[in-house]
Amino acid sequence: MVYTSLEIDEILNKAPVMEPQRQFYFVDQCRKIISALEEKKGRKLTVCINTFGCQMNAKDSEKLLGIMEEIGYVESDSEDSDFVLYNTCTVREHANVRVYGRLGVLKNSKDKNPDMIIALCGCMMQENAVVEKIKQSYKHVDIIFGTYNIYKLAELLFLHFTQKKMQIEIYESPQEIVEDLPSERKFKFKSGVNIMYGCNNFCSYCIVPYVRGRERSREKEDILREIRNLAADGVIEIMLLGQNVNSYAYGFPQLLAEAAQIPEIKRIRFMTSHPKDLSDDLIRVIKDNPKIARHIHLPLQSGSTRVLKEMNRHYTKEGYLELVDKIRSEIKDISITTDIIVGFPGETEEDFQDTLDVVRKAKFESAFTFIYSKRSGTKAALMPDQIPRDIVNDRFNRLLALVTEGATKQTMRYTGQSVEVLVEEINQKDPSLLTGRMSNNSLVHFKGSNDLIGTMAKVHLDEAKGFYYLGTLIRSM
Ligand code: SAH
Ligand code: SF4
Ligand code: F3S
Repeated sequence: MVYTSLEIDEILNKAPVMEPQRQFYFVDQCRKIISALEEKKGRKLTVCINTFGCQMNAKDSEKLLGIMEEIGYVESDSEDSDFVLYNTCTVREHANVRVYGRLGVLKNSKDKNPDMIIALCGCMMQENAVVEKIKQSYKHVDIIFGTYNIYKLAELLFLHFTQKKMQIEIYESPQEIVEDLPSERKFKFKSGVNIMYGCNNFCSYCIVPYVRGRERSREKEDILREIRNLAADGVIEIMLLGQNVNSYAYGFPQLLAEAAQIPEIKRIRFMTSHPKDLSDDLIRVIKDNPKIARHIHLPLQSGSTRVLKEMNRHYTKEGYLELVDKIRSEIKDISITTDIIVGFPGETEEDFQDTLDVVRKAKFESAFTFIYSKRSGTKAALMPDQIPRDIVNDRFNRLLALVTEGATKQTMRYTGQSVEVLVEEINQKDPSLLTGRMSNNSLVHFKGSNDLIGTMAKVHLDEAKGFYYLGTLIRSM
C-alpha cells in the first residue's frame, strides 16, 4: 500500500490529539498497511522483541508486544523477523556492549531481507551519546524511542512506513502517564504491575534516575483496578513494580494490604525495597497477610558504612543488619535476597571485609553480585581511585564463593516440609517434571500433569539439590 503525500497529510491531520485515542487511531492505520503487506507476502508478519535489563523493561515489553499484536504482527522468538525490537538496559557497560554486538549481526539479516524493520528503545536510548553513535554507525536502524514514550510505538511505525527514514523520538523527561493500551502478558497466570515509575534516590553509581526520570506514583485506585482486571483475566500472582516501592507516594503497606483483599489474587510479590525506608508497617502487613510472598529483595550494595555514604544510600552497616534481624525475627520463613556491588571507587580491602561480614551475618537466600561499572553522567564516575581490574576480580570471586556457600545452606532449610507452590512451567531441563515456585521464591521440581500449570499446588520437599528442591505433588489447590 503506497500513500500519496496528500493522503499521508490527511491521515496525520485527522489523528486525535488526546491519548490513548491517538494511538488507537495509529494502530488502525498501521493495521491497514500490514494487511496489504500480508497479502503481498502471502503470510503473516512477525515481530521479535528482545528485552534486556530489569522487570520494568519486561513490563514495558509486554505493552509493546500488545501494541504490535493489535497491529497484526505475530510474535516470534527468532530475530529473522519482519520487525525486531531491542528494549535496552544501560545499568552496566556490559549491557550496552551486547546491544552493539547484536546490532552488527542484525545488519546481515537486513541485507537479506530489506523489508525488515529494526527498532531500539529502552534506557540506553535516553543517553545522547548512544543515539549519536547509532545515527553515525548503525544506519540500518529504523526507529528509536525512549523510556517515556513507549506508548507511541504505533505512531512511530506509521511514520516509518510513510516517510521511509529513521524515526527518532526521545523525550528528555517524563510526560503524561498514558495507560489503557493493549498489553500482551508473557504468562497467563502472573503479571507485573507498575506502581511507580522513575527514581529519586540518585545512588552515586546509578544511571537509572537519569534514564527513567523522577519518581511518579500511580493513583492507588488505578493500580487496584488494573489488578482486579488482571484477576478477572485469570491472573493469580502479581508483582508490584517500582525502583523503590517503599517510597510509593500513597502508602505502600496500605496498597499491599488492599491488593491482598482481592479474592482471586493468591500471591503478591514486590520489587524493589530500599533499606533506608522499609517501615515497621510494611513488616506487619507482610506478616499478617499470608498471600504476600515471603520474600524481600533488599539491595545491600556494600557492607561498609563509609562506602555506603559515598554511594548515597542513607543507611549504615549496623542499620542494615538490624533491619535484617527485625524482618527475620518477625517473619520466620522469609527469604531475604540482595544486590552487591564490588569495586566501587575507593573501596579498600577493609571495606570489602565489611561486605563479607554482612553476607555472613545476614544469611542471604540469594545475592546478585556485580562488578562496579562506571556510568558517565553519574557522580561516582568522577570519583578518584577507580579500583584496578585484577583486585576487583579477586574480590568478586571471594564474594561469590561466600554467597554461594551461605545461600545453599539457607535456602535448603525446608527439606521435609510441605509447601504451597505456583506451578509455573514444564521443567526446562527435564520435560517429565513441572517447576513450581514457593512463596519465598525457591523452586521445586516434581512430577505432575501439565494442566496444573498456572495453578497453586501443595508439594512435599523431598530432597535439597543445592539451589532447588525435588518434590512430590500432594494435591492441587
Ligand atoms: N532500584 C533498585 C536497583 C535497580 S538496578 C535498587 O535500588 O535496589 C539493579 C542493581 O544493579 C542495583 O541494585 C545495583 O546492585 C546494580 N547496579 C546499579 N548500577 C550499577 C553500576 N554502575 N555498576 C554495577 N552495578 C550496578
Ligand atoms: Fe539506582 Fe539507587 Fe534508584 Fe535503585 S534506588 S534505581 S540503585 S538510584
Ligand atoms: Fe536497566 Fe533501565 Fe532497568 S537501565 S536495570 S532496564 S530501569
